[in-house]
Amino acid sequence: MALPQAWHQRLRLPAVAAPMTDVSGPDLVIAAAVHGIIGTFPTHNAKSTDELDAWLSHIAAATKRTDSVSSPVAPVGANLVVHRSNARLSGDLDCLLRHRPEIVITSVGSPAAVIGPLHDAGILVLADVASLRHAYKAIESGVDGLVLLSAGAGGQTGWANPVSFVRALRNDYDGILVLAGGISDGHGVLAARAAGADLAYLGTRFIATTESLASAEYRQAVVEATLDDIVSSVQVSGLSANVLRSWLEAHGVTQAPPTGLDGNTHTGFAQDRLLAQPNVWAAGHSVSGIDAVLDISVLAERLAHEYQQAQDLLLQAPVNGISRRWR
Ligand SMILES: Cc1cc2nc3c(=O)[nH]c(=O)nc-3n(C[C@H](O)[C@H](O)[C@H](O)COP(=O)(O)O)c2cc1C
Repeated sequence: MALPQAWHQRLRLPAVAAPMTDVSGPDLVIAAAVHGIIGTFPTHNAKSTDELDAWLSHIAAATKRTDSVSSPVAPVGANLVVHRSNARLSGDLDCLLRHRPEIVITSVGSPAAVIGPLHDAGILVLADVASLRHAYKAIESGVDGLVLLSAGAGGQTGWANPVSFVRALRNDYDGILVLAGGISDGHGVLAARAAGADLAYLGTRFIATTESLASAEYRQAVVEATLDDIVSSVQVSGLSANVLRSWLEAHGVTQAPPTGLDGNTHTGFAQDRLLAQPNVWAAGHSVSGIDAVLDISVLAERLAHEYQQAQDLLLQAPVNGISRRWR
């Protein structure tokens, strides 16, 4: 399935505000959607399924087109951790089926068991994957698209090169491809499109927004960090995750544990372990492109401008395939 045609009119640029533990809540999702960027959050950010129910009602009301919300509103999505250790999986799934957000993004496990009910409810299903093996399994199980988690992504990270990952799938797969990892501006969004992705997935960039749930100190640390300050650790959830070195050092972890050839150390994911570590300062390589904490209205404007600027730059009278700027 390709990106729904109607979304082209609803998106200011082909971008998703990615779901982030302890960072994405209703304010971030609503602000992103109202400003033309797909807004998403993990269901576990709500403290209970009842709170999730209230969040989804609030988000639906605030993103409904009314006189005060008159321009097109981008879709909204929820991230559901489908790992067996998620004690709320069944309750949160039922809640999503009742509220019918336009998109559900599954992560940390096989989406197979939830695709049927989600499709029956008319919800588009994307599976978050970090390897070709998992990508093919998700495609076989019938997802509408994939989120390709690549190297440098904030939080639980991928290890694959982003361009290689998209190219390995794009020629044979006509479903939706979303590229995640290391994208903080409109130039990066265009790079994702040029590689063959339909959408770019921006996490770290949205930590440093006024609507995020991150503390002021965490937002500022993201603004001040460069990609050299990002280290990979399994301390957070049992899977390899990118976090700010300053947070690890403040918590007495000075060295990133060694990782295997696939980038993971295979200690195994556990949802309760992830949720038992609130206020982790996770962030990815894209911190280098973040210079201020912004309102999402300003960020959306900036991203759209950069996206246009990047296209214009590439179209500047190329001579023999080489842009004038490089001669
Ligand atoms: C602080 C933080 C928390 C995250 N939490 C989740 C999560 O709960 N579920 C999920 O699927 N991905 C999570 N991610 C991954 C993002 O959804 C996304 O894939 C990633 O941020 C993209 O890379 P970028 O940070 O370089 O933009 C998290 C990322 C960050 C930075």
